[in-house]
Amino acid sequence: MKTFEEAFSEKRLGDSKLRLKNVFFKSATYEGMFDQGIPNRKLIDHHVAMAKGEVALTTLSYGAVSANGRTFIDQMYIHDRSLKELKVLAHEVHLAGGKVSIQLTHCGYFSKNKEVKYPLAPSRVFNAYGSLSGILFSRAMSIEDMEMVAHDFAEAAQGVKEAGYDAIEIHMGHGYLLSQFLSPKTNKRKDAYGGSIENRARFPLEVLKKVQAKVGKDFPVLVKLNLSDGFKGGFTLEDCKYVAKELEKNGCTAIVLSGGFTSKTPFYLMRGDIPLGGMIKNGSSMAEKITMALFGPFIVKRYPFTPNFFLDQAKEIREVVRMPLVYLGGVDSKSGIEEILDAGFDFIAMARALIHDSDFLVKLKENQIEKTECNRCNKCVVEMDREGVKCVL
Ligand SMILES: Cc1cc2nc3c(=O)[nH]c(=O)nc-3n(C[C@H](O)[C@H](O)[C@H](O)COP(=O)(O)O)c2cc1C
Repeated sequence: MKTFEEAFSEKRLGDSKLRLKNVFFKSATYEGMFDQGIPNRKLIDHHVAMAKGEVALTTLSYGAVSANGRTFIDQMYIHDRSLKELKVLAHEVHLAGGKVSIQLTHCGYFSKNKEVKYPLAPSRVFNAYGSLSGILFSRAMSIEDMEMVAHDFAEAAQGVKEAGYDAIEIHMGHGYLLSQFLSPKTNKRKDAYGGSIENRARFPLEVLKKVQAKVGKDFPVLVKLNLSDGFKGGFTLEDCKYVAKELEKNGCTAIVLSGGFTSKTPFYLMRGDIPLGGMIKNGSSMAEKITMALFGPFIVKRYPFTPNFFLDQAKEIREVVRMPLVYLGGVDSKSGIEEILDAGFDFIAMARALIHDSDFLVKLKENQIEKTECNRCNKCVVEMDREGVKCVL
């Protein structure tokens, strides 16, 4: 078992050749630092600050694998123009002594991208999130659609590998396309891709294999996976055990454990306050602002914050696989980190503690502080849609 001090020594990322300076990751948090979807200087500085602050692997959020995989029109997708800037970012993070990964995803039906009339999904479902933008229903994917999306994941992975990224993270959680396949609530298919967890996991695993075949065995491919969706009828911890074992069998480098479904339980993955005022202001249309103001308190469920809030669920996954697991969720103190190390997790990811202060780890290591001053007001969530993610404290 590692001690807190040992957690700051060099560690290889699973069976890959990637050497990390310690066990700490910056988890993917949508930065909102793009100009028409192209990374800007703020984005580079944000991740360089993480690398300077003792983060071993910083994760960019997020690269849609295709233009129609974007949740909204200004989101970044992986193509020649974004890759040009992404390359600069990787280079600067390396100069600052860090390593860099990028979350690759497809939004599925969680879309208000008006360029796509019927967003792709495992099944036809009502799209509450896009409804005020006129995107009411998804289209159930055909086998050809699935082949195309898997191909897009593989091409995007290869693109960022060539741009100097040290790893990629395939997003299978939080209610995006691959998570929509895993969840029985949104996957109503009657073919080999729906029904049992073996079937629901089939397409996400095909995507993993296609990506691995493209980038090669030595390139680290992580997966972000839900422990559970956080609502009745969704993906469960038992489902997660099955998928984790399959990921291990299929040579996935590490699993980042999380939970929640952005279109249904957005604060399950964060916990703490709901910054409703800011969310109303940020609504992209008057209709959205009014709906949020009227119904927000009823539709957005609140989950109180507790330190290491996913640890009990995550420990159950620790028991069924030997592969590297990344703990994420509510890491806020030195004692909290020790608890995670004691429970046998290989790596530890953080979001808000590092958004609050990119030197959080430096200060913990040097015993200047015991815990973060982030109070989980979650106003950083509002900031990401304004001028880029930052702490308002
Ligand atoms: C402002 C903000 C943006 C986020 N964006 C993403 C995202 O794009 N992709 C993702 O997988 N998780 C996202 N998350 C979730 C975090 O990665 C993490 O799971 C969550 O904040 C819990 O970790 P923490 O307690 O260390 O903050 C976001 C969280 C915050 C606060």
